[in-house]
Order: sequence, then C-alpha cells, then structure tokens
Amino acid sequence: MMMLRDVTERKEMELQLRKSDTLNVVGELAAGIAHEIRNPMTALKGFIQLLQGSIDGDYSMYFNVIMSELKRIESIITEFLVLAKPQAVQYKQNDICKIMQDTIDLISAQAMMHNVQIIADFERGLPPVYCEPNQLKQVFINILKNAIEVMPKGGDITVRITRAGCYVRISITDQGCGIPKDKIKKLGERFIRRKNAAPASA
Ligand SMILES: Nc1ncnc2c1ncn2[C@@H]1O[C@H](COP(=O)(O)OP(=O)(O)OP(=O)(O)O)[C@@H](O)[C@H]1O
Ligand SMILES: [Mg+2]
Repeated sequence: MMMLRDVTERKEMELQLRKSDTLNVVGELAAGIAHEIRNPMTALKGFIQLLQGSIDGDYSMYFNVIMSELKRIESIITEFLVLAKPQAVQYKQNDICKIMQDTIDLISAQAMMHNVQIIADFERGLPPVYCEPNQLKQVFINILKNAIEVMPKGGDITVRITRAGCYVRISITDQGCGIPKDKIKKLGERFIRRKNAAPASA
C-alpha cells in the first residue's frame, strides 16, 4: 500500500512563515534606524534655527524650505516608529482624513520609487470616526502597498473619502489587473496570494 500526500500547501505556508520572519527582522532593523535618525535630526533643526538668526541677507525662503522638509522627515519617522512599536489600543473619535494623509505621507516615498502617484480626494467636513488610528493605518498601508505592487509600470492610486449617510466611505482604486472574483471571497484569509500567477483580466 502507498500513501501520497499533497504538501504544496504546507510548503507554501512554510515559505510564507520564513518570509514573515525575515520581515520581522527587517522591520526591527528599520525601527532601530528610524530611532537613530531622530537624534541627529533634532540637532540639525536646532542649528538651522540658530543659523537663521545669524546670517545676513534674505535667505528666509531657503530656511523655510529646509525647516519644513526637516519637519516632514521628522513626522514620517515618528509615524513609522508609532506603527512599528506595539501600542495600547485606544479607540476614540478621530479625523479619518488626517489618518489617511499620514499614511499616504508614510508610503509616498515607496510609491514614488515605483512611479506611482497617490491622488487624495477627501470630502470636506466629514464627521469624526470612532476608531484606533494605528490599526487603521496598518490596514491602509497594506492596501496601498498591494496597489503599488500590482502596477509594476507605475500608475495612479486614487484615495477617496466621502460621506455615505451616517457612514464614511473610503475607496482606494488602482490601475492594476484587479482581483479575480473567486479571490475576493478569500480576502482576509491568511497566506492567500497570487503574486507569481499570470495577471487576471481586468
Ligand atoms: N489591488 C490589488 N489588485 C490585484 N490583486 C491584488 C490587490 N491587492 C491584493 N491582491 C492579490 O491578493 C493577494 C493577497 O494580498 P496580501 O496583501 O494578503 O498578500 P501579498 O501582497 O501577496 O503579500 P504581503 O502583503 O505579505 O507582501 C496578492 O498577492 C494579490 O495577488
Ligand atoms: Mg500585500
């Protein structure tokens, strides 16, 4: 008698687990680096401010650009560190557009590297949303990352937030091949991927 067992799924799972191990290590490294970058950043900001007062001539435009870019780097690093570090879950009323904009800022460098433009279209005067911002950011990052990955030649991602009655509707649209109908049912399950498969029709 002979018993055969299909181990494809198990192998795939093992591969995924190994990948997530590597990702954890890389994530920790990145968090460490981000943390280390923050200190010299603070020194840079301080000295630039000091210089601003002691240089003759009108260089205020240069100083403003330097300061605002430094602040941007700082806020991206802070956002990254907040996400990388496990935080106490805190549900409260939040500005959903700010949460989305912070997420877009965080991922914009990666988008740019892949020739992807993220277009934000937020309705004004939306009601606050009762949520945990960091958890939502994780979700948005995953969706935006997927959207970037499915457009290897670049393209646009449109992020729209609108009011839908007493709800807020968030839609993230990419110009990739789309997710096949049968895969949509499986969204949310672990280890479901189609990355190396042939592209589906749109
Ligand atoms: N915007 C999208 N367009 C087309 N297919 C998508 C899109 N988002 C997800 N998918 C498909 O769903 C699969 C599962 O996505 P998921 O984010 O769970 O895993 P992944 O992107 O493959 O891996 P990871 O997120 O761990 O890097 C993807 O591999 C891809 O085939
Ligand atoms: Mg993904």
